[in-house]
Amino acid sequence: MDPLVEAALKARENARAAYSGFRVGAAVEDAAGRVFTGCNVENATYGLTICAERVALYKAISEGAREFRRVAVAADADTLTPPCGSCRQILWEFCGDVELILVNLKGETESLRLRDLFPRPFDASFLR
Ligand code: THU
Repeated sequence: MDPLVEAALKARENARAAYSGFRVGAAVEDAAGRVFTGCNVENATYGLTICAERVALYKAISEGAREFRRVAVAADADTLTPPCGSCRQILWEFCGDVELILVNLKGETESLRLRDLFPRPFDASFLR
């Protein structure tokens, strides 16, 4: 199995999903091949919950990573689960049209580009 996919599945095991019971893992690969992982971390307020994708990406950024090649997302389902809208916006901001790999609990994967999920993004280009 692709090591990035494996890393996302493993990160899912650390999820703190006491309210939804829906565990998600993500793994981000930077241009140097470094891998950063994250899981969803829920909060009793619900609204302060942070998704696995953002945890992984913010960990990467805080470690100095700046260019990203691929993002793998492993959700608690037999269906292939795409990133939520907030994560699509954040991924676009820092990764652009990155390759996304979705994986389910059966180990099935689907590869797509962020642009396909997020066709007309608002970004810094509109602020100039
Ligand atoms: N979740 C993620 O971690 N990533 C997504 O892209 C979709 C949703 C988490 C947030 C929450 O903890 C749980 O899944 C249910 O929405």
